[in-house]
Amino acid sequence: MKILIKNSEEIKKIHKSCKLAAEVLEMIETYIKPGISTEEINIICHNYITKIQKAIPATLGYNGFPKSVCISKNDIVCHGISSKNDILKNGDIINIDVTILYNNYYGDTSKMFFVGNKISLKSKLLCLTAQKSLYKAINILKPGLRLYKIGQIIQKYVESKNFSVVKNYCGHGIGKNFHEDPQILHYNSYDYGITLKSGMIFTIEPMINIGNHNVYLTNDKWTVKTQDKTNSAQYEHTILINKSGSEILTIRKEENLFY
Ligand code: MF3
Ligand code: CO
Ligand code: CO
Repeated sequence: MKILIKNSEEIKKIHKSCKLAAEVLEMIETYIKPGISTEEINIICHNYITKIQKAIPATLGYNGFPKSVCISKNDIVCHGISSKNDILKNGDIINIDVTILYNNYYGDTSKMFFVGNKISLKSKLLCLTAQKSLYKAINILKPGLRLYKIGQIIQKYVESKNFSVVKNYCGHGIGKNFHEDPQILHYNSYDYGITLKSGMIFTIEPMINIGNHNVYLTNDKWTVKTQDKTNSAQYEHTILINKSGSEILTIRKEENLFY
């Protein structure tokens, strides 16, 4: 295992890619309405990334993934593939996960969107809990912190709200590569003795379910769903460890409220 420490030039470049990824999530908000297909959302994101940002949608072709963003609706946990036949309806919750490649560096972020105004209270609470678990983890980050503390705080908070944490997928180091060491587990695990250091950059991206944590890979070999068909929610940020703690490189304007 090799955790890369990024220098200031690399940090600048990763920050740029992260900013572009965050801006895609800000841009797409206004389009998320009942009646739009997930493929239309994918195309709007694709065109924005390639034509306006002059960047590369990193998921397109990544290990054969066929779309420019991942769109994961309701009981889809992650890696959802958009389709023109998949029409959003009032009450759906969707995650859009955007990974940008720009200047040879990656930035990765995702958030939940509510479709219409008929979201169940449970699903709203699910999304809020996923987001808050991410913030709770971010708030403890600083050089010297043991890596396993991230998963510990996320699982503790999520289970206190009676939701469950998905164990099959994790966060990751990021930079010149889409996925680098270390793996960031979102659940309680062992203390492998790894500590955070200034200059590390990684994602935290908890996936949490209303029901139990079990998930399965569907026939398309990408889409991951909850086994018990309950809804799932995820938020993801790319984060830099710095001397004073951490910086969210994929922060959106709307989020300043939370600090
Ligand atoms: N963006 C995802 C992550 O957070 C990875 C998507 S890989 C894909 O790590 F192939 F499904 F696009
Ligand atoms: Co990621
Ligand atoms: Co992602």
